[in-house]
Amino acid sequence: MAAMDNLCDIVIFGGHGDLSFRKLIPALYHLSNGGYLSVLSRVIVVARKEMGREEHLALVREKLIEFLGFDQFDETKFLHFAQQLHIVAVNFDDEHSYRDLKELLDLHPQRERINYLSTAPDFFTIISFMLSRLDLITPHSRVVLEKPIGRDLYSARAINIEVLNYFEENQIYRIDHYLGKDTVQNIMALRFSNRFFMPLWDANNIDHVQITVSESVGVEGRWGYYDQYGAMRDMIQNHLMQLLCLVAMEPPCSLDADSVRDEKVKVLRSLRPMSPADIERHTVRAQYAAGSINGGPVPGYREGEGMQESNTETFAALRVDIDNWRWNGVPFYLRSGKRMRRQYSEIVIQFKGIPHSIFANKGSCISQNKLVISLQPKESIQLKLMNKIPGLSDQMRLQQVDLELNAPLNSARKPDAYERLLLDVIRSNPTLFMRLDEVEAAWKWADVILQGWSENLVPMKSYTAGSEGPSASIQLVAQDGESWHDE
Ligand code: BG6
Repeated sequence: MAAMDNLCDIVIFGGHGDLSFRKLIPALYHLSNGGYLSVLSRVIVVARKEMGREEHLALVREKLIEFLGFDQFDETKFLHFAQQLHIVAVNFDDEHSYRDLKELLDLHPQRERINYLSTAPDFFTIISFMLSRLDLITPHSRVVLEKPIGRDLYSARAINIEVLNYFEENQIYRIDHYLGKDTVQNIMALRFSNRFFMPLWDANNIDHVQITVSESVGVEGRWGYYDQYGAMRDMIQNHLMQLLCLVAMEPPCSLDADSVRDEKVKVLRSLRPMSPADIERHTVRAQYAAGSINGGPVPGYREGEGMQESNTETFAALRVDIDNWRWNGVPFYLRSGKRMRRQYSEIVIQFKGIPHSIFANKGSCISQNKLVISLQPKESIQLKLMNKIPGLSDQMRLQQVDLELNAPLNSARKPDAYERLLLDVIRSNPTLFMRLDEVEAAWKWADVILQGWSENLVPMKSYTAGSEGPSASIQLVAQDGESWHDE
């Protein structure tokens, strides 16, 4: 712990939004209690509505209890944290309304400043502009941009260009919270600290890769946002692409930010652009219809709050090809959907079969080896291997068994991804944040598919809430002779 080193002012724009209450404030509460944030640091919550200090603290307390649960909330710790909390009201495009914020920040002009823009991307430019105009950006300032950065390459570029007018690239932290998850960082540890995988990690040995992020939750009151974005922009272009990069990238020469990001961007640039025929054959989009989850009825996507008509996909599945030496001919299948049967994320590395079986006539069928990396909620790594069934039978009978690596059991609380990422911003470590060229390369590739979908190259399918997604997703892999790893 080096709390005194972590002395800073953290300003959360959109401070009364869902993300702030659900993730950012709880993360800062834990960082403060854990001694990772100097007691002199301030957390300045920027809301649109005027609110007195007492009313604000009561609201934050209520939300912390809601999102942390009573077991993780501690009244005494909250009172300490509350001393660091400040509230100001700002109307983003009204310069005069920034007065209170400016007064607060000007009390410590030399202090490290973190501006967390937890707002719709439409506000990134105006907030940056106002901060600059009011002389609130110093060499010690950083800005954190929540995803999605734009809706396509064009809008992402426009945002990046605008924000770069006020902040240097090394002051900009583009967040993808998947990179803050321990299990996601462990992909690099697994690949680059175990020699065992090194000679196997390529097209000679790997048949294909599956990446699934399946959610049983719906859009949770975020219709206004979600309906403009859909599964491709909300999940695939960022979270699943980042997972793909971590699986596919070459070993970086070190763990420093640019070495890691250089390798990820090379993967993104090697993604094979899809032709119209590829889009038809290799992509699936679908929207959920009414069904049931955990025994309870769930309305269809279009029956949700205020929705009537919508052509937004809540599920997407794709076959992605990477045109480089290591991955030539190895399909990466990606899928993500809302209101699915189960809530889980996993990566499956399916190895090729053995070249010749000596067991072929002995009644045993040999399954290909698989490495299953479960990211959440289960955190484990399983290597599926063949093994002899013990016994005296004259036939050598085999079965598949799991070599399982579980995260060490530890009663300590697991830090949330946002704790890790906020701490990295505080410490000025951008390794787990997306560089400008990464975001743009991911959009460039995704735009082609989104364009194809907007031209109806692929019909919108439907799936029942609580299912494994549309049957077209099963066909997507079946046409290559594969099936999804569903357990
Ligand atoms: C967010 C998406 O980035 O990630 C949400 O906007 C999604 O729609 C969420 O539910 C999933 O994150 P996690 O950490 O719960 O897998």
